[in-house]
Amino acid sequence: MAGDAPSSLPVQLVEQPRLLKLKESFIAKFGSAPKFYVRAPGRVNLIGEHIDYCGYAVLPMAIEQDILIAVEPVNNDVVQLANTNSLYLDFSTSVNDIQIKKNKPQWHNYFLCGLKGIQVELAEICTKSERYIGTEGGGMDQSISFLAEEGTAKLIEFSPLRATDVRLPSGAVFVIANSCVEMNKAATSHYNIRVMECRLATKLLSKSRGLDWKKMLRLQDVQTKLGVSLEEMLTIVEEVLHPEPYSTEEICKCLGISLEDLRSQILSQNMQDVSTFKLHQRAKHVYSEAARVLEFKKICNEAPANAIQLLGELMNQSYISCREMYECSCPELDRLVDICLQSGAVGSRLTGAGWGGCTVSMVPTDKLNTFLKNVKKAYYQNDVQRLALENNSLFATKPGRGALVFVEA
Ligand code: GLA
Repeated sequence: MAGDAPSSLPVQLVEQPRLLKLKESFIAKFGSAPKFYVRAPGRVNLIGEHIDYCGYAVLPMAIEQDILIAVEPVNNDVVQLANTNSLYLDFSTSVNDIQIKKNKPQWHNYFLCGLKGIQVELAEICTKSERYIGTEGGGMDQSISFLAEEGTAKLIEFSPLRATDVRLPSGAVFVIANSCVEMNKAATSHYNIRVMECRLATKLLSKSRGLDWKKMLRLQDVQTKLGVSLEEMLTIVEEVLHPEPYSTEEICKCLGISLEDLRSQILSQNMQDVSTFKLHQRAKHVYSEAARVLEFKKICNEAPANAIQLLGELMNQSYISCREMYECSCPELDRLVDICLQSGAVGSRLTGAGWGGCTVSMVPTDKLNTFLKNVKKAYYQNDVQRLALENNSLFATKPGRGALVFVEA
């Protein structure tokens, strides 16, 4: 991964109640004190959904909320993992025998993936590591976690990895709201099916334009090879791909290959039973979303008087495309976005993979209090389960700093 390694910061634990509490839990569990602590921030993607694995730039920011880990190096080969949330059970294993069972996702697998990743290769370690869990992620989360800086969102470009500051306009804040629907990316195939649909669209578009389609993997590769604009790619999508879902037979016919070839050379192991793929809609989302990311950055840079309005509009378009073309929303997210817009947001969209999880809304600062009050009332108050989660589920946040190691001063 490009960029600096996470920095290390001496801290006075007495001034850090969460770290202090973590230290106490650690001592209670393991009988000795941690040697250092690690902080990894949460992230919110402001715009650019489901395009990182297609090669396109995204625009996330790290947030102030984070995960903390306490660590003590030991002199043997056993790694012991414990979680302060008792829902997640203790786990230990030998570092020489890391088994990551893909059919049964467990919290500690994420740690084991990191360990396995280090053993394979240090470069671009986190993005590759996540793939051991079984999802074909694009690298946005890991990149922003490492490359974030306080006070700025980032345009993250891939191959090679680059991060450019994007200063958000003053006068508005970003509010995150949890739909309280959980979608376990590792346990379901929605995410990987989308990655595959984009790959198949790449192949069909490449073949139609006489490119070496066997070598092409990402939708961005087609644009780069053809040397055309995103708008021109959208026209090509309309010409080449039809909106009706493609059967595996039709894909084989278009590419001139057998079903066995498709299964063994293109479709990944867990994709073998999927029989139809929507290529037109997915490609349309990706190229239009990639264009929206660049437009978002341009507006932030130029900061016209109506910047907030324009950015909000882009977020709304992004959401509609995610819902209609990419089909990665769900009824609860649809309802929440609706409520956010009615409560004063200028833009609101699902953020991250979708099918559950959070929305991000852009709210004029002077409307923040009524916004929070209205959303709380309309989405959380009448539902006991949501209300129980509400404190951690609805908050305004600012661009926070990246991953960090703490040592006790
Ligand atoms: C998840 C993945 C990211 C990205 C988003 C969708 O968060 O981890 O790589 O693909 O979904 O934009």
